[in-house]
Amino acid sequence: MFLSKDEERILNGAEGAVLARAIKLLVTLGDLGGAEKLVSIGRAQVAGVSYKTSGDATLELLESLVESVPCVKAKVLATQNPAGMDLKRWKEMGITPSFAEKQLRICRAYEALGVESYCTCTPYLSGNCPLPGEVVGFSESSAVAYVNSVIGAKTNRHGGLDALSAALVGKVPAMGFLLDENRKGDLKVKVNFKPRNESDYAALGYYVGKRVKTEEVPVYEGIKGISPSQLKLMGAASAASGSVALFHVLGVTPEVRRWKTIYKEDKPAETLEVEEREIKSVYDELSSPEDVDLVAIGCPHCSIEEIREVASLLQGRKVRGGTQFWIFTSPQVYDSAERKGYNKVIRMAGADVFTHTCMVVMPIEEMEIKSVAVNSAKAAFYIPRTTQNKCRVRLTPLKEMKAFLK
Ligand code: F3S
Repeated sequence: MFLSKDEERILNGAEGAVLARAIKLLVTLGDLGGAEKLVSIGRAQVAGVSYKTSGDATLELLESLVESVPCVKAKVLATQNPAGMDLKRWKEMGITPSFAEKQLRICRAYEALGVESYCTCTPYLSGNCPLPGEVVGFSESSAVAYVNSVIGAKTNRHGGLDALSAALVGKVPAMGFLLDENRKGDLKVKVNFKPRNESDYAALGYYVGKRVKTEEVPVYEGIKGISPSQLKLMGAASAASGSVALFHVLGVTPEVRRWKTIYKEDKPAETLEVEEREIKSVYDELSSPEDVDLVAIGCPHCSIEEIREVASLLQGRKVRGGTQFWIFTSPQVYDSAERKGYNKVIRMAGADVFTHTCMVVMPIEEMEIKSVAVNSAKAAFYIPRTTQNKCRVRLTPLKEMKAFLK
């Protein structure tokens, strides 16, 4: 890979051992991916924040980076992915002090490295939003899918460590989805039914994700009237079931509008027809319990529109005894929902809104929660896996969460 004089200097340790290691990691990734050079990024988003999923090794590594001399700081705006708890209200969630102590140390270490504690997987709704065409280094899979597909920014799907390295160096290898030729479609997805709600779109994304091959870009045809929140849930689901980092929706997402030919080979390599029965099969696959301990909304973190919908569902109702009803969002969207009075309506119903975390990366298996209802196929996919099957799920559209209210 070609390196500029300045990049060579950093690689040779002129700005300290940490930056040398960071750029070496990026160069190694670039060599593996066939990159010819590094390119500057406008911003970054760093996963690997929850103590539940990152553990002591990450904590020790981060604290050793903070203590390094000279001290290193992110060169661009960089924000943290969700942590394992609400950083302020963790006691109310039932998090243990020993978990909280380690979690707070991880977040503080990232902050010392210049990675802000926004702790959200929807940074694009919370002050870390790229422009169309901007090159960024994002690592949370649903955020990668959203900014690539819905905004038209450019990022590869980075691991936590390479996104941190990208933030510190301010660059990433020019490869993969940063190159226009890799952003065109491979697979045509003909949607032959009308999804009725956000969970149907999530189930559609989940079904498609399971059928695409690595690095393939699906192009959806036949979708009309999809909202940004529904695109968010659909993209998150296909990123979970099939690592889809980029998708297009004809007539909706920005890049398909500017190309003469949508597909890499002028025509799709394959066509996938999706009928309503395929969506039903996803609900069957992702749903087990009848009763639930927790209703959890906000995977990916809720937008203000989604919180308004939850508040309108809960208005004048109460959460049924024996069930908790939690909504997850970013601190910025929480503040906005507070000002608009949505959080008050939610709390009056006996539900609650938490920030910085989510139902997947918090330690629910240690919190006596055995079954969860979610409207997100991504959450339904991960909850059994991240709790060693101690917690079961049920995929249910928000409107049907009425069953858990009185
Ligand atoms: Fe976000 Fe947690 Fe879902 S990080 S995408 S809410 S699994």
